[in-house]
Amino acid sequence: LPQGISIHPVAGRIGAEIRGITLSGDLPAEVRNVIRAAWLKYKVIFFRGQTHLDDASQEQLVGLFGDKAVPHPTAHTKEGTSYVLELDSHRGGRANSWHTDVTFVDAYPQASILRGVTIPEAGGDTVWANTHTAYNDLSPELRELAEKLWAVHTNEYDYAARKPQADPEALKRYQEVFTSTVYETEHPVVHVHPETGERHLLLGHFVKRIVGLPAADSRHLFNLLQNHVTSLENTVRWRWQPGDVAVWDNRATQHYAVDDYADAHRVVRRVTVDGTVPVSVDG
Ligand code: SIN
Repeated sequence: LPQGISIHPVAGRIGAEIRGITLSGDLPAEVRNVIRAAWLKYKVIFFRGQTHLDDASQEQLVGLFGDKAVPHPTAHTKEGTSYVLELDSHRGGRANSWHTDVTFVDAYPQASILRGVTIPEAGGDTVWANTHTAYNDLSPELRELAEKLWAVHTNEYDYAARKPQADPEALKRYQEVFTSTVYETEHPVVHVHPETGERHLLLGHFVKRIVGLPAADSRHLFNLLQNHVTSLENTVRWRWQPGDVAVWDNRATQHYAVDDYADAHRVVRRVTVDGTVPVSVDG
């Protein structure tokens, strides 16, 4: 490792903190390579104390993890920025269910870069899960079954469904953040990571149903597979401080923002990196 840089795994199966780097868009190649390799290996990487970053310099970090930033398809970007999605707990920004970001579009983001801005005194942690070890944990019979399945992903049950109909004030706050366009696509339940070649379960809260199964069977099978993703042994939990940056491989993880801080204020800002259409084991 280059002088002064060290990597510290945070949990047994996923997640590592990288120390000794001041993040910016123009780091030397050897440092970029360390970051990229750790991101692919640990699937979510953490950097403490990046309080020098603002929205513009956060957007410039995209080049470390891919070609270009991609705005959220339905959420308005933060004023004065091109790509920043602000999740503000006082404006409904509480992502407290297990998901991979934006899987309701064909080519969903390959990386998400999240910056802690305002963090509650206690609570508001984020938990990530490793979707490759979840796949590996399946019995050979279940793997074989999962590899044949496809799932319908839609934002219908998420942002669009959360749209408050009755309360005009709530509707106004909602419309400041989200438009109500509904997206729907199909992805393989097992996809092959385009860079590592590892197999991953591709599920999360945007899944509406598994193609070709009756609704009850689809729900049971989804739960069976999804429970392998979210078992505690398969996760890492991060206690945020303002100025922390977490970057996850969105092709290899799911995450959950723990909503345990009542009315305390929590603001995090996310920039996502454009990805590719996931590929099944059959190519
Ligand atoms: C997200 O779902 O991208 C946000 C996670 C968080 O608020 O910690």
